[in-house]
Amino acid sequence: MFSVKFHPAGRTVAVAPGTRLSDAASHAGLTIRTDCGASGVCGKCTVILRRADGQTVEQLACRTFVDADLDVTIPDASLAKRDVVVQLGSTMQSPMGTVSGYAAAFDIGTTTLAMELIDRNGVVAVVGRANPQRVFGDDIISRIQKVIEDSAALQTMSEAIRSAADEMLRELATAAGITTAEIDELCVAGNTVMEHLFHGIDPTPLGFVPFTPPVTVFPDRRADELGLAMNPRGTVRTLPILGGFVGGDLTAGIFALNITEENEPVLLIDIGTNGELVLWTGKEILAAATAAGPAFEGARIEHGTLAVPGAIERVVIDDFCNATVRTIGNRPAVGICGSGLIDAVSELLYRQLMKPNGRFDTAIPSQHWTTANGKPAFMLVPSPLGGDSLLVPSPSGGGLGWGANQLTPPPNPLPGGEGNAVYLTQRDVQQVQLASGAIRAGTRLLLEHAGLSFDALNTIYVAGGFGNYIDPKHARRLGLLPPEVPLERIKFCGNTSLAGARRFLLERQTLDCPVRHLELASFPKFTEVFAESMIFPFSKEIVPKLGI
Ligand code: FES
Repeated sequence: MFSVKFHPAGRTVAVAPGTRLSDAASHAGLTIRTDCGASGVCGKCTVILRRADGQTVEQLACRTFVDADLDVTIPDASLAKRDVVVQLGSTMQSPMGTVSGYAAAFDIGTTTLAMELIDRNGVVAVVGRANPQRVFGDDIISRIQKVIEDSAALQTMSEAIRSAADEMLRELATAAGITTAEIDELCVAGNTVMEHLFHGIDPTPLGFVPFTPPVTVFPDRRADELGLAMNPRGTVRTLPILGGFVGGDLTAGIFALNITEENEPVLLIDIGTNGELVLWTGKEILAAATAAGPAFEGARIEHGTLAVPGAIERVVIDDFCNATVRTIGNRPAVGICGSGLIDAVSELLYRQLMKPNGRFDTAIPSQHWTTANGKPAFMLVPSPLGGDSLLVPSPSGGGLGWGANQLTPPPNPLPGGEGNAVYLTQRDVQQVQLASGAIRAGTRLLLEHAGLSFDALNTIYVAGGFGNYIDPKHARRLGLLPPEVPLERIKFCGNTSLAGARRFLLERQTLDCPVRHLELASFPKFTEVFAESMIFPFSKEIVPKLGI
């Protein structure tokens, strides 16, 4: 592990080698701007690194991977706007000052955990680590499945998360030079399944229609009851679940962004296995989850992978229908992750290599057409060992083969064929249609239920780590984010779960407005709207109109 210290917030976080610097900042509860979806082109994520020899250098946080202990200054301009508002650094005054001693905010993400120690003046220390439950599966569905298959897994996963929380509390106390007994309060925020597992409550009902969580409001518990290293009589509070899969992390998002203070309608989207949606109508909160599926986490995609080094994260297709890819860490390609998948499908659509209904159009020439199991596929990276067949010569005159300017081969392929051929199949595109269609359908139905149009949305906040790496232009072409809403009204706000838990501790926010959870699948129009939403909204005709 390497230690990364962020200034001026004064937060230090330990991260694994190869962690992207913007992710390390996120573990430290700081959201760095990623306006271009971490493409490395907008420069909005610029930070200042101080080297061991004292020299300073400007770097893009989205393109820098931690390979040593680092000292990083994040200029104000590089912090996401909302983070500036939410951030309560040690030199700033707490607006309410309700924390009398020390308290901790705990974000339980499916993949990573983050915990902050705060006092009445703000954040004192931050720690982050991988969620130890990952050995039971990468996503929440796998973890529910594990409990269904083996009832002992519930206790094991519950103990794993509490033991991680216990260790993180100890690390925070050590970092702050206090005793763990001085920590009086812990606020937990996580998705519905994570909060159930933390409390040792069986999440099995969430594995079946109608996906009803056994508990939505968790009672406060004493720290000694949960075996946590803090004041034994300290209180552990859990942010309430809004309903179904719309968990305490979204409640935290509402707190972090203060959306109920806004006068105009606002939508908060968290894109994951479930697309979770919160619509603030100006009078009430409507919440719903859509079954987006795990495509954006690389599951059910032929060459899908999580966002690991070597994952294709960016895809560009040029005027001659030649593809260029970029992998995380410039490593040999190992597969394609969510952001790369969104880019690839959007670019195929834009170049008319694919129709809005998701069907490949192999009549459009490209040297990247190939076959997989006898069906058309679009090659993104050829095998370093060669041997993939190409069907159609390129009109650019490159003929068959991988011209130097036409496709980026796996960078630095290693001896022995490290790096994989990566292509996109028709089935992969269908998975993307299901995922983006589910979220678009959910957004449309929520708005319709509230009697609102897309035009009425003042802001769309995209929460969650994945959101930081989506190129909004591509997401709008697919309808994953509504193309009807101008780009400038879409804001990426990173980890609002930790920020919301912190804000709750400092300000004691409550949801003092009506909250309704809607089961979208029971809407009479659901099937029709879902089917319509699976058709990508992008077409050459609407480009000028919507600017996508
Ligand atoms: S350059 Fe890093 S997010 Fe745009």
